[in-house]
Amino acid sequence: MKVTVVGAGAVGASCAEYIALKNFAAEVCLLDIKEGYAEGKAMDLMQTASLNGFDTKVVGSTNDYSKTANSDVAVITSGIPRKPGMTREELIGTNAKIVKSVIDQLVEHSPEVTVIVVSNPMDTMAYLVHKATDLPKNRIIGMGGALDSARFKYRLAEALDCPISDVDGMVIGAHSDTGMVPLTRLATRNGVPASTFVDQARLDEVEQETRVGGATLTKLLGTSAWYAPGAAVSELVRAIAQDSGKMFPCSLYLEGEYGQNDICMGVPAIIGANGIEKIVEIELNEDEKAKFDEAADKVRQVNKALDV
Ligand code: 2OP
Repeated sequence: MKVTVVGAGAVGASCAEYIALKNFAAEVCLLDIKEGYAEGKAMDLMQTASLNGFDTKVVGSTNDYSKTANSDVAVITSGIPRKPGMTREELIGTNAKIVKSVIDQLVEHSPEVTVIVVSNPMDTMAYLVHKATDLPKNRIIGMGGALDSARFKYRLAEALDCPISDVDGMVIGAHSDTGMVPLTRLATRNGVPASTFVDQARLDEVEQETRVGGATLTKLLGTSAWYAPGAAVSELVRAIAQDSGKMFPCSLYLEGEYGQNDICMGVPAIIGANGIEKIVEIELNEDEKAKFDEAADKVRQVNKALDV
């Protein structure tokens, strides 16, 4: 499998690093507009190969999309990250133009590609890719839910005071500070409802900590996070590479599912060789449904700013 990662900043480099480390891809092409930057990161990563024991070939390119030709998967991380105090939605003006130009060039060289969108505002950027290309909807995946669910599990394990591998849970909705819908009702520790271990007030705190997971890190780091976004992307790419059929919530184009149309929102899906193999529809309770619909209304407002 050949994977292109567009954007060699912190998030893009982290995606490339985790994909290489996990050793399931033949090649990772890392591309950036900054002269020599992607080549430098690729070379640095290749110099870890003998130490870390991977055979994935990482190549860098300064904006030469011919190097990305015939990619099976392309990850778009391009654009500006948010600064402390900013919402993801505020990035739309700059990032929409960048993502549009990236996707045009990617598809020209890899018409069969499956795209994973990371750039923010992520649900709107996934929608932009849908509108700006003829790619089938199963080949356009916004990665937010995979990342937000990992942050949710981290916070759940903290609240339950247990190993992270004991907990399970999902976040659907939008990849935004107010639009995430952590499905606390369905979260478990080894199959036992999380509510058995902590009270609702603590679970409410977990939900809120999850929603502002990215903002908390942006405040601490001065820019947006990279390890967990990179790891989330690498797991989505691995599910495609290995045709594993693993279920992740991710931002997908909805046509009636969850009562929504013509929008990309985070919902659970089975990921395999064809990208989205199936959208999984689960029964939401009234509160979850209301939060999901409210988040969709907000995403729709942001989508209106797109020129597609
Ligand atoms: C985050 O939440 C990159 O949006 C991303 O960290």
